[in-house]
Amino acid sequence: MVRIAIIGTGGMGNAHAQEYQKIKNCKVVAVCDVAAGRAAAFAEKYKVKQHYTNFADLLDGAEIDAVSIVTPDSTHAQLSLQAMAAGKHVLCEKPLATNYPDALKMARAAARKGVINMINFSYRNSSAIQKAAAIIASGDLGQVVHVHGSYLQSWLSSKVWGDWKTTPAWLWRLSSAHGSRGVLGDVGVHLLDFATFPVGPARTIEAKLRTFSSIKGKQLGGYTLDANDSAVISLEFAGGALASLHTSRWATGQANSVSLVLHAEHGAIRIDLDKSYTRLEICRGKDVDTCSWKTLDCGRTPSIYERFVRSIRTGVNDQPDFARGAEIQKLLDACFTSEETGKSVRI
Ligand SMILES: NC(=O)c1ccc[n+]([C@@H]2O[C@H](COP(=O)([O-])OP(=O)(O)OC[C@H]3O[C@@H](n4cnc5c(N)ncnc54)[C@H](O)[C@@H]3O)[C@@H](O)[C@H]2O)c1
Repeated sequence: MVRIAIIGTGGMGNAHAQEYQKIKNCKVVAVCDVAAGRAAAFAEKYKVKQHYTNFADLLDGAEIDAVSIVTPDSTHAQLSLQAMAAGKHVLCEKPLATNYPDALKMARAAARKGVINMINFSYRNSSAIQKAAAIIASGDLGQVVHVHGSYLQSWLSSKVWGDWKTTPAWLWRLSSAHGSRGVLGDVGVHLLDFATFPVGPARTIEAKLRTFSSIKGKQLGGYTLDANDSAVISLEFAGGALASLHTSRWATGQANSVSLVLHAEHGAIRIDLDKSYTRLEICRGKDVDTCSWKTLDCGRTPSIYERFVRSIRTGVNDQPDFARGAEIQKLLDACFTSEETGKSVRI
């Protein structure tokens, strides 16, 4: 039995609890949340025996093998380091940290301690992106030349996820003082992983980050709403391909849309997660000359939670690990440098 503790019992904490419940020989045995009453209510909801309001107390008192860190971004580094120092395996939410030096420290600590370490780049659960990566790696389509990707949300211009002005989980995401790195750190991080996973590492990156005027500099309760909410990224891969990536919370009409198009010498791949997680569209062979596309069924990929538990059992660390989280964090930091300097940044 793999015994897990969930740290942070907000929106995403529920997803972790529900996913672990589906896995055999794995049990959530403790939870922790600093908000009084929340850990207890969560423990009751998911029939978890032990609940804490202090992480150090949980590490002292609960018999666990692993932790899922599902707290706001600013706390990931400290909580993960604490857990690893206690010899626990860690699945940490994205982004790994709020800057590259912290992320690197986490990746190095994981390697030193020899614990299983993974970051929840949840769109890797899509079998379509796994299949795309395998097709590109096979070389069948030749060199990738162009990549076009986007992660678009509209919770600032709609009520699709409620009223952000009264929801703490949205408000901390708009505030640098609360450790948010804006839409770039929140979902741009997924997009950077999604686009570079099948194609390879970046050589240079250039970004324009914006905080659209109706909220910029505004104070709402204890929150200064200054974090970026829109980003356009231009990225050159080490292999030579060019990418154009776009992410925003102002993409009116799109709730949570992730898409990727890869154009290679002898074919192309389209993924649209609004349409399917398990199918991609492909244009190759004779279809190239008529620009025709076929749909490919990609089967099922085990979820990150299944892969994390399997890694603990086998001792073989699956991807994406903390080193990968740190690699993506480096790209995030480079986007901020590019915005500040107005220049392209070499990775
Ligand atoms: N992988 C994904 O697709 C995905 C989706 C949503 C959120 N997330 C990530 O999950 C994390 C949590 O997001 P959320 O939407 O659930 O936020 P949330 O604000 O709804 O919940 C965070 C919870 O953590 C608690 N908390 C804060 N500091 C703590 C600490 N030091 N120890 C224990 N508990 C603490 C808060 O009281 C709150 O209950 C974020 O890092 C976010 O980026 C990932």
